[in-house]
Amino acid sequence: MIQKTARAAEKASAKALQRCLLPACGATYSLSERIYVCPRCGGPLEIDCSLIAPDNPEALRKLWRDRAVSRDPRDASGVWRYREMLPFDDDAPIVTLREGNTPLYDGPRSADYCALGSLRLKHQGCNPTGSFKDTGMSAAVTQALVLGTRTVVCASTGNTAASLAAYAARAGLQAAILLPHGQITAAKLAQSMDYGALVCEIDGNFDDCMRLIQQLGDDPSIYVANSINPFRIEGQKTVAFELMEQCGWQVPDHVVVPGGNMGNSSAFGKGFSELRALGLIDRIPKLNVIQAEGSAPLAHLFAELGNDQIASDAEIPDAIEPVEHPRTLATAIKIGAPVSWQKSLRTVLRSGGRIIAVSEQEIADAKAIIGRDGIGCEPASATTVAGIKKLVAAGHIRPADAVVAVLTGHVLKDPDYVSHYHRGTLSLESQPISGAFRNVPVHVAATKSAILEILERRR
Ligand code: F0G
Repeated sequence: MIQKTARAAEKASAKALQRCLLPACGATYSLSERIYVCPRCGGPLEIDCSLIAPDNPEALRKLWRDRAVSRDPRDASGVWRYREMLPFDDDAPIVTLREGNTPLYDGPRSADYCALGSLRLKHQGCNPTGSFKDTGMSAAVTQALVLGTRTVVCASTGNTAASLAAYAARAGLQAAILLPHGQITAAKLAQSMDYGALVCEIDGNFDDCMRLIQQLGDDPSIYVANSINPFRIEGQKTVAFELMEQCGWQVPDHVVVPGGNMGNSSAFGKGFSELRALGLIDRIPKLNVIQAEGSAPLAHLFAELGNDQIASDAEIPDAIEPVEHPRTLATAIKIGAPVSWQKSLRTVLRSGGRIIAVSEQEIADAKAIIGRDGIGCEPASATTVAGIKKLVAAGHIRPADAVVAVLTGHVLKDPDYVSHYHRGTLSLESQPISGAFRNVPVHVAATKSAILEILERRR
């Protein structure tokens, strides 16, 4: 039965194709076409895996569970363990660093902070290069090999770059990454240098780098690995499968993710939709996206939508007003013109979730609270807990709801931020950000008694 289920799904995914998401177009293209937007209308592309619902969903769940203890490198990957759901042939030249398989933690202090009964934190920062990008990059770089590409490129605020650099190195491909000069944390830049990528520091911001990438994508020698590449989303959607396994297939009420270029929220939406189409879950959680106040074009657009649109599967607007000069210390999501905003908005509206923005102060304090749970994340990831607190206060999340916050990057991606917060020197454009949960190092004499005395005072 298991074999039959697996074969049926594998055969089905062999018919996969690329499809334009705009309802007025809906054009389809073969998987071998190296395209990132619809060549006919410019709309966003998605891979339609043509999955067939298994006769026995439990058998498919068991197949995936059993693979978690197998030594096959494909099974050791939290992406390729779900290969029935991916648009690749059995003999595809898989590029893997054992991505995925990230922990789902309880965060009792974070839950208290948000006035929730409980809160779970899915830590995607525990991926091989320290961010959620690795699941998508495994799929995109594999597709680069399938297509016979020599060079892979991306624009990045740092994490996509580090991830692409690592996976390209594994695959023996040339990688070029475009970064906004002076706006990337030292740790992320160091990763890309170490993995041997060509690091191009561009005079401009992330949106300028992204514009350049779209031009470079026309060159036949180049493959773009940003999240407009639909194969990236295929890898990233597997986090929804892994999360549901970790939740014992009990669908949470809310999943909350940070929003930057909007690939991650789109991927979660696709993953959950596919699970529902296959009968593996019976509903989709409300997907909520949180942006930083100074870089929040989609939260602005969402706030302008009428209540009827929020309540239904709305008509997606044609355009979004970009934020000309995005600002935030959460540099990973310092983006004014997100490329995947239409996909993300559609996903959020269909799920019944919301898109909101949080302030720099709210991000900084939420990050320190997550830390008190023994879990480190980078500033962009902390938008989730800051956003949940706001959504609970506004009544959009109820205190007893089952909520999962997705932490997207590791704390060591931006240690300077952490240090400035706790020492009281954090600021954005000379506006100080105070540290309500500061933990300042103390200078102590080198004696046992001095240490015991300070411990006693702090008890
Ligand atoms: N969190 C982190 C740590 C990120 O690095 C990013 C995006 C996001 C959240 C937002 O995810 O773009 O899918 O909405 N970083 C990209 C980069 C832009 O280049 O590393 P998104």
